[in-house]
Order: sequence, then structure tokens, then C-alpha cells
Amino acid sequence: MINALRGMKDLHDVESAKYSHIVETAAGIAKRYGFEFAETPQLEETALFRRSVGESSDIVGKEMYEFEDKGGKSVCLRPEGTAGMVRSFVQNKLDRAGGKHRWFYHGTMFRYERPQKGRLRQFHQFGCESFGEASVYEDFHIILMIKDIFDALGIRFKLAINSLGCPQCMPGFKETLVKHLHDIDDLCPDCDRRIQTNPIRVFDCKNGSCQEKFTSLPRLLENLCGECDEDFNELKALLDRFDIDYEVDRNLVRGLDYYSKTAFEFISDEIGAQSAIAGGGRYDRLVEFLGGKPTPAVGFALGIERIMDLVQLPEQNRQGWYFGVMEEQALHSIARLAHKARQSTPCTVEYKRKGLKAHLKGADKAGARYCAVIGSDELQEGTIWVKDLQQKQEQTVAVDMLNFTR
Ligand code: HAM
Repeated sequence: MINALRGMKDLHDVESAKYSHIVETAAGIAKRYGFEFAETPQLEETALFRRSVGESSDIVGKEMYEFEDKGGKSVCLRPEGTAGMVRSFVQNKLDRAGGKHRWFYHGTMFRYERPQKGRLRQFHQFGCESFGEASVYEDFHIILMIKDIFDALGIRFKLAINSLGCPQCMPGFKETLVKHLHDIDDLCPDCDRRIQTNPIRVFDCKNGSCQEKFTSLPRLLENLCGECDEDFNELKALLDRFDIDYEVDRNLVRGLDYYSKTAFEFISDEIGAQSAIAGGGRYDRLVEFLGGKPTPAVGFALGIERIMDLVQLPEQNRQGWYFGVMEEQALHSIARLAHKARQSTPCTVEYKRKGLKAHLKGADKAGARYCAVIGSDELQEGTIWVKDLQQKQEQTVAVDMLNFTR
């Protein structure tokens, strides 16, 4: 037997219903916030992720599904959605067109991580990217939108925020930080590498012994320039005004290198160690970094599988029709009726001849509101027996009189 690869899951039944529920809920809310659906390929040039997600990140350092295609080009299954969206934004010259562009997307991402609960090698994200708006109000609206999505899905969360500074304050801080880091002995090999590539990522180290050595290190939050400080204070004031609880986490640096200014994460206490259910922030330099005109940008992505572990499916109202026969000759009539019904409502057809009880069971399982069956009497009379499973009423009507718009 051939099984799915480790860390990759099939989706069906309740799981697929949850998936659709999450995506439809999130997409509905994103549209209300002015975001439009966008899609980019799952396979991109490896260089795109190296340049954007960054060499210092675990994603680029250890987790990419990277290979040569048949033409010898190095390609990579996307580990995240932002880089592709920015590539598409620049390639389609939207940076030069100016204005605001707000996109939402959902789909498969790939990271070669050690699989565990809530951590897969193939997983799905729903994300939003906003291009062209520098105001911290946009950061706030995105956080508010994520809150609306989680509220609509009935998910409790904690919000952590931080500021990662800008080209004004970040480089000077990094120099100071590196000086301090050189005074510390016995860092883990990952932190040694981070000192060379992106020193602020040491604060993301999962090694307890490194973290102990970092307690007295300076943090960027206390070394922001005037503009970053003002923006961060404004963001906190907006969250306060909207009664959104948050914690300022000075260690929150995110696992990707492209962020500047606002960084945030939504955490759940109810799903174990892999507790981040959404993350994002501002990445004002990335468009330029990938060859475009400087364009401010901010976005987020939420992990659909992690949210599937938390979400309850809403009680479905019964809807649509179930058709069954007790005589095979009636299948023709049923096919015609089902086609008519499907113009306006969902519809299930059972082709096998069965008794009424079995058909009622089938209709119940299908979640149908109406169970319609043709038996031998109905066949002779040109009628059909219909039961409304919600109102618990039944009647026999002429086949031509069936009305599917109710
Ligand atoms: P990220 O924090 O790497 O950000 O991923 C976002 C979310 O994807 C996480 O909070 C988590 O819920 C989910 N996730 C990540 N890795 C896995 C995994 N191996 N298995 C299951 N779920 C996972 C980004 O990807 C950025 N592109 C977000 C962003 C958009 N920033 C700005 N715009």
C-alpha cells in the first residue's frame, strides 16, 4: 500500500467541511475589508524565497522543498505566500501603477519540518497582503480583521505585538546587539549563524540556555527611532480604544527576515506547543528588495490546520433535495427532476432501488431538507412522494408540479 508522505494529510468529510467553513468565513470578512482574491503558483524560483524570507530564517536554512526542474533551474515549493504575492505585484508593474492593492489568498504551503501536532510538511494558509498603504491604521485594520475572523469562527486567542524598527533605527541597533553577542560564550550553532546573517533573530532561539544569556541584552523596542516609536504607540492606543487585549512581546521577531515596524502573532492556549494560529506584520522594504518601486506593505497569514483543531462546525440547516426510487423504471424521471432542482438548490440522487425507510435515512445523512421518492403507485400515476424533513410534513404531488424554489 502506498501512503501519503509524512507530515502530509488528506482532507475529507468533517475535515474538508471545516476547511471550507474557515476559508469561506475568512474570505467573506476579507472582502468586507476591501481585499480581493488573488492566486500565485505553488512553485517558484528558489531565489525568490532566499531573497525575501531570508538566509537567516529556519525556513530557508533547513525547510525548503527545493529541487532542480527538468531544465536545470532551481525551483522550490512555496513555504509561505507573501514572497509570491510580492513577486506578482512587481512583475505585473502594480508598483508603478501606484494606488492601493489588497489581496487575499489561500492554499498549500510546504515546509520540511519535523512533523508533530499542528506542524505539517504540507499545510494550508489563508493570508492577506496590503500594498501601498504606509499608515499604521492599516496595520490596525488588519489586526482588527483577524480578530473579526476569529470571533466569527468562535476562536479564543491572545495577541502579541512588537516593533522591529525601520532602516533608520534597525541597522544601528543590530551593530550594538552584535557587540553584546560577541561578549557571550557558548551560543548554539544557530545563534552563531544568526550573528552573521540577522542578529535580531537570536531572540527567536528555542534553546533555553541561549535565552538565559539574552535576558540582559538590549531590545529594539527601547531603541526605536521617533517615527517607529510614534507608530507603535499609535497602534497600542488604537487597540486600547477598541478593547482588544494584547501583550507587548519584546522577543517577538518572527521567523521570516522581511519584517519592519509592526510584527504580531495570534496565539491559542488550546492546541499544544504549536500555538501560533496567525502571524504577520509590516514589510515596507520587500517590494523594493525584489526589484520594485519602494512600496509600503503589511499582511498576515493564518494556519488553517491549526484553526481546524479549534473550530466547531455550525449546526447546518437542512437544505436541498434527496431523490430515491423504489422501482428502477423511475430513474429517468428522477434524473430529470434532479437536474431541474440543481439549477437552484443542492441535490443528491440515490440510484439504487431501496425501501422508503432506507431512503429517509439516506436523505437524513445527506443533510437534505426534502426526501422525494417514486414507488410503483407514483410511477403509474405520474406523482412523487415528498417529505419535508424539517417541518415533518409529507405529501404526494404530480411530478410536473414540483417546485424547487421554496
Ligand atoms: P508564518 O508565521 O510563518 O508567517 O505562518 C503563518 C501561520 O501559518 C502560522 O501562524 C501557523 O498558524 C501556520 N503554520 C506555519 N507553519 C506551519 C506548519 N508547518 N504546519 C501547520 N501550520 C503552519 C508567514 O507565513 C507569513 N507569510 C505571514 C505574512 C503574510 N506576513 C505578512 N504577510
